[in-house]
Amino acid sequence: MKINKEASLTPKSKRPSDFSLKNARNLLGQTSECQPKVFVKTFGCQMNVRDSEVISGLLDKAGYKLTDDETKANIEILNTCSVRQLAEEKVWSAVGRSKAKIIGIVGCMANNYRESIFEKVPKVDFVVGTADIGKLPKILKEIEKHKGGILEKKIYETDADFREDEIYHTGFHLDKEHAFVVISEGCENFCSYCVVPYVRGRLRSRDYNDILKEIKDDIEAGITKITLLGQNVNAYKYEKTDFVKLIGIVNSIKGLNEFGFVTSQPKDTSVELFLAMQEADKLKKYLHLPIQSGSDRILKAMNRGYTRKYYLDLADKYRTIVRNGALTTDIIVGFPGETEKDFQDTYDVVKNVEFNAGFIFKYSIRPHTEATKMVDDVPKEEKERRHALILELQKKISRNKNANSS
Ligand code: SAH
Ligand code: SF4
Ligand code: F3S
Repeated sequence: MKINKEASLTPKSKRPSDFSLKNARNLLGQTSECQPKVFVKTFGCQMNVRDSEVISGLLDKAGYKLTDDETKANIEILNTCSVRQLAEEKVWSAVGRSKAKIIGIVGCMANNYRESIFEKVPKVDFVVGTADIGKLPKILKEIEKHKGGILEKKIYETDADFREDEIYHTGFHLDKEHAFVVISEGCENFCSYCVVPYVRGRLRSRDYNDILKEIKDDIEAGITKITLLGQNVNAYKYEKTDFVKLIGIVNSIKGLNEFGFVTSQPKDTSVELFLAMQEADKLKKYLHLPIQSGSDRILKAMNRGYTRKYYLDLADKYRTIVRNGALTTDIIVGFPGETEKDFQDTYDVVKNVEFNAGFIFKYSIRPHTEATKMVDDVPKEEKERRHALILELQKKISRNKNANSS
């Protein structure tokens, strides 16, 4: 087995694709039996959903046939997530089950484990990182050429630190009416539990002219709703345009009926944002604002950059300014050193703020992160108990809220 590290495989083509959803559907149904068919399986967050569309668009442009039937695929690309151990376990078992002739791991786990993936799962043929997905058409061609030969090739590409903007412009979307639009890549907040900065790289904001072009092309193709995506959208900044300005610009795009955004980091969320949200008539009045913990001690250890009081004030201001605005959150229970008192502080916040929805996670130790230096001392059963308690509470609150709003 030969492991090749291919360099500089970025596609040069700048041609816009004439790919539309309609012919995407036709392609999916009419692939001829002898052509290799590619199945892209997505794990993780909305950023990955969008990245899988990007990958599909690029492969389509390069002449590959796409299939949505895993059993018919000769090439399987797993677009992976590293955020918690469980997310990774799902990927490892999916790789184990895959019957495809050629298998690739792309996305966050590719950056997390790099070429060691070939040792762990020898049947994997290529490993391609989050910023390297533009190279996939060329990498696949290389793999195909050598597959089954004496010098069978393995390729890993995980070193790029930016993406060519052209990868976003193939026009490939899974939904006819709604499109995800990446406004920034990466994150440099380094919350102590989080692997994202290590697998997605430093924060890069896209040129807003490119973002606007993408949205306008989407609208021409029939899209009427969009969601702006970033790990921390509020940190968006391109030249003099910040996120608050971008909201005003997007709101004025003709033909766009509705838009939203995820995710907001509380420390970068401001009253100016709430005023812009209230002002923008096309913007969904919805804010996902992960608090993670209601204990100041734990927030500090998490390196979140705000206190419980700051968050509670922010939530109040949001509800005063953005009338009828929905508010949702993420919470981690069982972070290293979390005592019963810390947990109760979080429980109280959930009870008092009355989020419309909450996503509750059990702390999972992640490679590279600062929290690996802390002792993961909350026992599994205790994490489960805390998780169940907050989940139950939030479910009750969500039920009441939904009943009252209908
Ligand atoms: N950029 C987003 C979060 C992306 S990860 C933000 O800052 O809010 C999505 C969620 O996964 C996080 O909000 C957090 O609640 C959870 N999460 C991240 N790392 C985790 C870990 N190591 N263990 C458990 N949950 C984690
Ligand atoms: Fe992770 Fe924190 Fe960045 Fe969110 S803001 S992606 S939790 S490091
Ligand atoms: Fe997972 Fe990567 Fe998203 S770690 S949550 S797929 S940024």
